[in-house]
Amino acid sequence: PNSHIPVIAIDGPTASGKGTVAHKVADKLGFHFLDSGSLYRLTALSAIRRGADLHDEHAIAKLAEHLQVSFVGGEILMASEHVTQAIRAEEVGNLASKIAALPTVRHALTGLQLGFRKAPGLVADGRDMGTVIFPNAQLKVFLTASVEARAQRRYKQLIDKGFSANIKDLLSDLQARDDRDTHRAIAPLVPAEGAHFLDTSHMTADEAIEQVLKWYAQLK
Ligand code: DC
Repeated sequence: PNSHIPVIAIDGPTASGKGTVAHKVADKLGFHFLDSGSLYRLTALSAIRRGADLHDEHAIAKLAEHLQVSFVGGEILMASEHVTQAIRAEEVGNLASKIAALPTVRHALTGLQLGFRKAPGLVADGRDMGTVIFPNAQLKVFLTASVEARAQRRYKQLIDKGFSANIKDLLSDLQARDDRDTHRAIAPLVPAEGAHFLDTSHMTADEAIEQVLKWYAQLK
């Protein structure tokens, strides 16, 4: 019913810069923004906080289904607690990647994601935005960067946010996550049909943003 509302789907591996690019593109166009990874991170954080049994798929799916989340001006709240920083911890990201392989968890988060498609438009970032959640997106971008460039970015991000970090551990964590996200049976990270490829290894964020805006402008 709302398929006429424009969606720009930006998918790619962890730390590829898609978060920054998607957010800024949304700002420039005055569109809504969906950081779909945050929903998997919130579910993971909720599981950690409640000491959920990580092997109990249905217990985790229940947590996903009942996420009490609100996005307020760039801040993320879970049951009225500010968790914007907490969900960025590597421990949470790694668990998010694991539970994201569970079909019932993905299913539980689908409706929530579709609800973000509101006028005047949406920029959605994740792994399966163009393939599964918004297959009829007006523009699909597959945003990548070399694993070394991504490890450097993630390192800087973590340090800037006051977390401690180690490049070697980050590299191996990224590789493990890429491997899981790419090879899982359900909604794996693969380029959507018709996706535009953007390798940002040697690009600034501004250059990547300009390119996406240019592709979008060319649609009309
Ligand atoms: O983008 P991110 O690093 O915040 O995402 C955290 C994890 O969530 C990622 O490793 C895989 C999962 N994820 C997913 O499976 N599907 C999405 N659309 C977004 C994230």
